[in-house]
Amino acid sequence: MPRQKTSSPKKRGACYRAAIIGTGSIGRAHASGYVQAGRIDLVACADVDEPRARQFAEQYGIRTAYTDLRAMLDTERPDIVSVCTWHPFHAEMTIAAAARQPKAILCEKPMATSLGEAEEMMIACQRNRVKLAIGFQRRFLPAWCKAKELVADGAVGVPKRVSHTRETGLLNATSHGLDCMRYVLGDPKVEWVFGQVERKTDRYERDVRCEDCVAGFLMFEGGIQGNFQTDLIPGDAAWAFVQGIDGMLDFDDGWVRYFNARTRGWKDVPVEKADPMASQAEELVDWIEDRCVHRGQAENGLWTMHVMMGVYESARCHEVVRLPLKTRANPLDLMVESGALPVERPGRYDVRSFLLTGEAMRPTRR
Ligand SMILES: NC(=O)c1ccc[n+]([C@@H]2O[C@H](COP(=O)([O-])OP(=O)(O)OC[C@H]3O[C@@H](n4cnc5c(N)ncnc54)[C@H](O)[C@@H]3O)[C@@H](O)[C@H]2O)c1
Repeated sequence: MPRQKTSSPKKRGACYRAAIIGTGSIGRAHASGYVQAGRIDLVACADVDEPRARQFAEQYGIRTAYTDLRAMLDTERPDIVSVCTWHPFHAEMTIAAAARQPKAILCEKPMATSLGEAEEMMIACQRNRVKLAIGFQRRFLPAWCKAKELVADGAVGVPKRVSHTRETGLLNATSHGLDCMRYVLGDPKVEWVFGQVERKTDRYERDVRCEDCVAGFLMFEGGIQGNFQTDLIPGDAAWAFVQGIDGMLDFDDGWVRYFNARTRGWKDVPVEKADPMASQAEELVDWIEDRCVHRGQAENGLWTMHVMMGVYESARCHEVVRLPLKTRANPLDLMVESGALPVERPGRYDVRSFLLTGEAMRPTRR
């Protein structure tokens, strides 16, 4: 599959020791990526849910399963740390891992729950000279890589508009969507955002306050317009449509098609199959060895945070919000806590309640 800024074949050499914090669904995907990548030994895992941690350790041949992530980091001194817990823990755990100076941290998306947290993660990693990537692994999907390549090669002419639709919250699914929009366009900066939010129910997603629905417009540098909607049209999900002056491109996780004046209708483009978790892990090793910059580098995750928080801030202030954003708190929380977004149908619920385990049916806490 196409790789960014590296064409070197996988070289023999150092083997890196990886540890995973949070052994739930995405923790397993990270483990599988490390196992497939080669040159990475999965040496430790930590989860407050002890039976889950133990079972994970058995499955992946890990000697010690920890319930305390700091004990794991201090004892094992891993080169690579995966942060695979729910979003409210990402900042604190990334900062704790950075203080132990591994070579790289791969933290799950969304990077954090506020811009302030995301910036602290950047500072902690810069200060400790740790490479930080955010788990936007879809950047490694062959279909996404092909779509990006086609846009760069002019298949639709100069891009003018890009559009994305998803469900289950701005921070959750649409963080992938906004990342997708930037990725397919070659990661341009975003100049401004303009958004609207509805929250009449007390909706949460993985214990993070979430809107009922949200939509927004974006302006990328170079004058490319973007728009997205989340939970506005149930059942409707699409990655990105890219409209250019000469054609249109449409893609999802496993396919790409486009048309222009030469194709006489939609042209399906063949794409290979590859596990993006393995490619994400391989590129982490290349990045550690300075052969490339990881395409999931935290600067991209931070842009997505600026856009998402900017959309909330636009709804809060009823204005076009120029990026980079200055508000460090989460503007959705500010709106709810100030009474600007009152719940009209009471009763807190979580759209990811199926992830809750144990009799208490409450999120696992430290
Ligand atoms: N990149 C993707 O496509 C993708 C897919 C799924 C989830 N995610 C992200 O991954 C994160 C985790 O989601 P999930 O679905 O795997 O959740 P999950 O509930 O399956 O797993 C989270 C795990 O973290 C553990 N945990 C909680 N507090 C802990 C602590 N203090 N120390 C150690 N472990 C602790 C829980 O016990 C649980 O096992 C979320 O931020 C989510 O957005 C990303």
